[in-house]
Amino acid sequence: MVCDLCGCKNMVAFTPYGDQSRRQRRLMHRALGPQSIPNYHPLIESETHSFIRRLLVDSSKWIAHTRRYAGGLTLYVMYGYEPAQMNDPHLTLAEECVDLLANKITGGGGLWPVDIIPALKRLPLWAPGSGFLHKAKVWKAKMEEFVDQPYDYLKSTIKAGTAVPSFCSTLLMEEEREREAEKAMDIDATKVDPAKEAERKKAAELLEFDLKWTANSMYSASMDTTITATMHFVLAMMQHPHVVAKAQAEIDRVVGHGRLPTFSDRKDLPYIEAIMSETLRWASPVPLGLPHRVMEDDVYNGMFIPKGTLIFGNNWAMTRDERIYPNAADFIPERFLEEVDEATSKRRDPRNYVFGFGRRKCPGSHLIESSLWLLMVTMLATLEMEKATDDFGKVIEPKVDFNNSVFRIPDAFDCDFRPRSEQVLSVVRQTESSA
Ligand code: HEM
Repeated sequence: MVCDLCGCKNMVAFTPYGDQSRRQRRLMHRALGPQSIPNYHPLIESETHSFIRRLLVDSSKWIAHTRRYAGGLTLYVMYGYEPAQMNDPHLTLAEECVDLLANKITGGGGLWPVDIIPALKRLPLWAPGSGFLHKAKVWKAKMEEFVDQPYDYLKSTIKAGTAVPSFCSTLLMEEEREREAEKAMDIDATKVDPAKEAERKKAAELLEFDLKWTANSMYSASMDTTITATMHFVLAMMQHPHVVAKAQAEIDRVVGHGRLPTFSDRKDLPYIEAIMSETLRWASPVPLGLPHRVMEDDVYNGMFIPKGTLIFGNNWAMTRDERIYPNAADFIPERFLEEVDEATSKRRDPRNYVFGFGRRKCPGSHLIESSLWLLMVTMLATLEMEKATDDFGKVIEPKVDFNNSVFRIPDAFDCDFRPRSEQVLSVVRQTESSA
């Protein structure tokens, strides 16, 4: 259902292990491997600063601002597209499709009756019980639009000569240069070898196909995960003012009051690092990860697992393991400051669980490691984040509900954001002139 009928079979997360998935992985590694991330630092900084500025103008829309930040960062990294401040058409379509994907198409583990009885695929559209075929037709068209729309934008900017460096434009232009150089080497300029020309054309088409689907997959996978992590960070800060105070004291000591934190401060801010680890652990954004299909019969802890079984790596249970994380339900960044040996330090690092496992482990983990860190430290440096109050000054306890099938994204809740001081406000304003 998910792959064929809804048109998602070429999205990275649904591509079975093989040639195509290896090509996609290579592209993602080129774009998002640890060596590429520093290239994105200026962009991450400018997106983070605009997020804080928007928040200070109208904090009642903080969730919309968070969505704009999460989508904007990936749209820019992938396609070189800078979304409008509000109601951007690409972001609106992305939100609709990511919601469709998480809550309708793959809701409930992504297993539909037609996956168990494939003959249902051939049900006539008028037959009772064929409702899923009607839905699939509409969803497939939407998903195709979602893949094509930002990519078509990118192609139009390349054609117009206005493309800015991005994952897609860089790889397409590199490939174009290689093709031209190869052609130039071949020549005997008067004759074009048709076999070679056909081969080049095929390679270019394949690259384009891979790029289009890979960029879209990264874009889809980054939106709700980033939003989930950010919303939980805000929730944790609202509920633990002593953590905020301790973090702000560390930032004030290391960064001072006259500028905003930068990546070069990171090594000197161990408590912020601990908050980041604890946020990922306490509120794993994808608690059951994505299902993996077993490729061979296997035996695990004496249990036989037949080939074809779907396995969920329950990282939620792992990050609630009391042997590694005492009082695991509580938000305690200090647990990551305790001196431990190397093996224990590795075992307690939530990044080993929350980003999944093995060959399909999250390829966006290095990007989020930088972007989320800067977002958290900048929010702490500039803002007070407290529970909202009603018209009579009574504190509104946040009501936290979850209604998403894949991501542990909380429903909207209020938070009172205020600038920490006049000085901070003026430092934040200065980022506008340097943007
Ligand atoms: C806090 C943020 C994030 C978390 C917790 C997270 C977590 C995960 C998890 C658990 C998986 C499944 C891995 C598995 O199958 O074992 C995954 C897959 C994936 N993630 Fe992330 N992710 C995050 C952010 C991102 C970002 C920012 C991007 C892209 C820019 C991204 C791109 C992907 C892609 C493309 C896949 C599919 C990989 C495949 O099937 O081969 N993720 N992520």
